[in-house]
Amino acid sequence: MDTEPQNQGPTLVDGMGRTIVNLRISVTDRCNFRCTYCMPADNVEFMDRVNLLSFEEVTRIATIASKMGINRLRLTGGEPLMRKDLPVLVNMLSNIDGIDDVAMTTNAFFLKESASALKDAGLKRLNVSLDALDPEKFRDVNRRDCLDQVLAGLAEASRVGFKSIKINAVAMRNFSETEIMSLIEMGRSDGFEIRFIEFMPLDSDRIWERDKVLFGHEIVDLIRGKYELVPIDNSLDIGPASEYRFADGKGKIGIITAVSNPFCDHCNRIRMTADGKLRTCLFSTHETNLKDILRSGGSDEDITLAIREAVRIKEPGHKINLDDFERPVRAMHAIGG
Ligand code: 5AD
Ligand code: SF4
Repeated sequence: MDTEPQNQGPTLVDGMGRTIVNLRISVTDRCNFRCTYCMPADNVEFMDRVNLLSFEEVTRIATIASKMGINRLRLTGGEPLMRKDLPVLVNMLSNIDGIDDVAMTTNAFFLKESASALKDAGLKRLNVSLDALDPEKFRDVNRRDCLDQVLAGLAEASRVGFKSIKINAVAMRNFSETEIMSLIEMGRSDGFEIRFIEFMPLDSDRIWERDKVLFGHEIVDLIRGKYELVPIDNSLDIGPASEYRFADGKGKIGIITAVSNPFCDHCNRIRMTADGKLRTCLFSTHETNLKDILRSGGSDEDITLAIREAVRIKEPGHKINLDDFERPVRAMHAIGG
């Protein structure tokens, strides 16, 4: 594979000239956590199970997308491991021609028992959501008292040996400041890249305010109080994170300035919700209903055309910083992180 020339395959380009290679697939909106920045504490209304795409339906969409230029998939939720037999889906997706990478974002609660099966099924990379290493702060933000279970899941994932394990920590003012250095120390000693994501207005409780965001530059300053950080030039491998390596050679960190400096100009991703709606932005107010095309006997060509049209009109960027910003109706757990 490595020796093949690049740009040989099909390409999926949006109306702004951005090449889309990355499809994030939510497999459920259910979650066993209730993180404050994502879900309400209780009375969550979940999707009717009949509306969830089956593994076969997901694989059909991913196969069609791969023929259009998608080469990377990420499974998200809710919590993807709430979906029974997830390794079966990982295996189906990993076997699609043209898909180079299948990754997953998880809260790690169920990883202790599933990491090995996921790895065997072909899962390459993991992002684990972990915002606090202090058990009380963990409980406050995740509304579950299970830091130990999450750390055990992380340890098992480490033991199994994924290509990369990154930790996502949502950066919130008056919360994250005390957790940043302990997360950093864990990342440096255990080989995880810690990524801080500025808190975005996607929470069900609608508590988001700009004042509650701990900004990327503040996080970098805080870490620089102890360690020298060197920016990494990743202009060739465009992702949402600005990355820095520790000058002493021990690991790296990522900062996702989704609010203070959005990466929309370089966005290469689209998303599909668990009920089969294609969203071309986290903040989309418009969705393309692929499930209806699938379930009304649509052909591969029909699905291809629907994806192409959705991508053509992909939003130039989100409007969090503009006066006409409109919050999406779906919260993060129903969109897919
Ligand atoms: N702002 C920023 N990141 C969020 N996530 C969930 N909700 C938010 C939010 N409001 C992140 C979590 C998780 C991923 C699924 O999305 O960190 O890792
Ligand atoms: Fe669950 Fe992830 Fe939302 Fe937390 S952020 S409630 S772990 S879906």
